[in-house]
Amino acid sequence: MRDLPKALDLLDWYDVHARKMPWRVGPADRKAGVISDPYKVWMSEIMLQQTTVAAVKDYFLRFTKRWPTVQDLAAAEDGDLMGEWAGLGYYARARNLLKCARYVVDECDGRFPETYDALLKLPGVGPYTAGAVSAIAFDQASVVVDGNVERVMSRLFDEHTPLPTAKPILTEFAASLTPQERPGDYAQAVMDLGATICSPKNPACGICPWRAPCKARIAGTAAELPKKTPKKPKPTRYGVVYIARRIDGAMLLERRPDKGLLGGMLGWPGSDWQEEAAPRHSAPIKADWKTLNTEARHTFTHFHLRLTVKTALVPMDRKISAGDFLPADQFRPSDLPTVMRKAFDLTKS
Ligand code: ADE
Repeated sequence: MRDLPKALDLLDWYDVHARKMPWRVGPADRKAGVISDPYKVWMSEIMLQQTTVAAVKDYFLRFTKRWPTVQDLAAAEDGDLMGEWAGLGYYARARNLLKCARYVVDECDGRFPETYDALLKLPGVGPYTAGAVSAIAFDQASVVVDGNVERVMSRLFDEHTPLPTAKPILTEFAASLTPQERPGDYAQAVMDLGATICSPKNPACGICPWRAPCKARIAGTAAELPKKTPKKPKPTRYGVVYIARRIDGAMLLERRPDKGLLGGMLGWPGSDWQEEAAPRHSAPIKADWKTLNTEARHTFTHFHLRLTVKTALVPMDRKISAGDFLPADQFRPSDLPTVMRKAFDLTKS
């Protein structure tokens, strides 16, 4: 039987190949005694859930420039924060980010707790984030399992049980390898390995620091792992949005309720989204509505959405039944979530 993979082999690889990220204290700085800012580690890990490093970088830089500390973030206006988050998706994360910052300031003296168990009590912090923050910011030997780590573990141990059933098994494997030495670097090293060498397609086994002990490489099954239970096809839902521009340039927008999809975000007034095509809905203002001949299409986690887009130019002082006019100089399309932005972009073509 071959040896278990050794954390040290991966750490040696990480010392040379660690990816540079704006929130990361690299291995050389870490060895020189530089410590991570838990606020930045926490923010980056929340942003990175369901999202790629490339997509997160600019958001992270803008957020930490505008709100450099957890105290600054806790004092932010909800609408400003939601506007900065627009386009990053999974908006519950943004609402929880604010809730969590306020909790840390009000209940924890402005300092992030250091242990996995204490971090798990914070709003919006689940097992993944508690593990990542305790390991990366506080060098605790927590088990950190994201999609990259699942893929690496399934291959190292040639585990063919499909996800999500395999999750506890893969977590056990990850726990069995987590070292007491440099657990923060180790956690990031496994994720970097998964994101670069142990990639979903065409893994670069020839240059992998764990090629010798990798059971799937030996069995020739690496590229087909992890197995996944097939997902149900997504249904399509339909809706209508009304984009009203007033003659002074103001736009009619409404803030969506905190609960539910796109909760707390600005959007165009419109119908509910239903599975039958062309739902009936009355316009938020009386006007000569034109229907665009292209729909706005967007895919959420559980369904595809097709929105009929209606537009109108409206006079001053007309009664409205939903939303508020936002003056032209305060309207920034970049404050809208992607689906609402797509609908707006169609009005310009
Ligand atoms: N994905 C999520 N968090 C990460 C991290 N800290 N390092 C590398 N990849 C990640």
